[in-house]
Amino acid sequence: MKRTKENESVNILSSARFEKAETVTHHITGNVAEHSRNTAEYGRRMCEWLNRHGIDVSEEDVVQACLLHDIGMTEDRVHDSAGWRKAFWHPRKGARIARDEYHVNKVQYNAIKRHMWPICIIPPRYKEGWVVMAADKYCSIRELSRKRKMLRP
Ligand SMILES: [Fe+2]
Ligand SMILES: [Fe+2]
Repeated sequence: MKRTKENESVNILSSARFEKAETVTHHITGNVAEHSRNTAEYGRRMCEWLNRHGIDVSEEDVVQACLLHDIGMTEDRVHDSAGWRKAFWHPRKGARIARDEYHVNKVQYNAIKRHMWPICIIPPRYKEGWVVMAADKYCSIRELSRKRKMLRP
């Protein structure tokens, strides 16, 4: 997707939809915005490491896609659906929201749509998508294990 003057990327963190993400529960006691910021931070660190080791990965694409990867959860119909349906549905819905409201490029779009691999069957097309997927899995496990500990009687 070409980025033109009229089609510039929107500031994700100050957008109304991301504000809504602060109110959407995710990973037991957290919210979508918090998880997305954590994922973006780990995605950024992974990019730094990869770039230092000679693997050229776009930090901008990874950070933007990480911030938006679960934005599909801000749709009530998606968030309130059954577990398996939500797992399939939120990346597709999120990719559509990212394209229509944030004007993401094709690398970011694909990374968001494929971040639930292997559940979504088709893997990410670009290396940035693999970084987003890895950062999301790492953060999800970390957040869930921490929160389970907190909730333990
Ligand atoms: Fe997700
Ligand atoms: Fe996630």
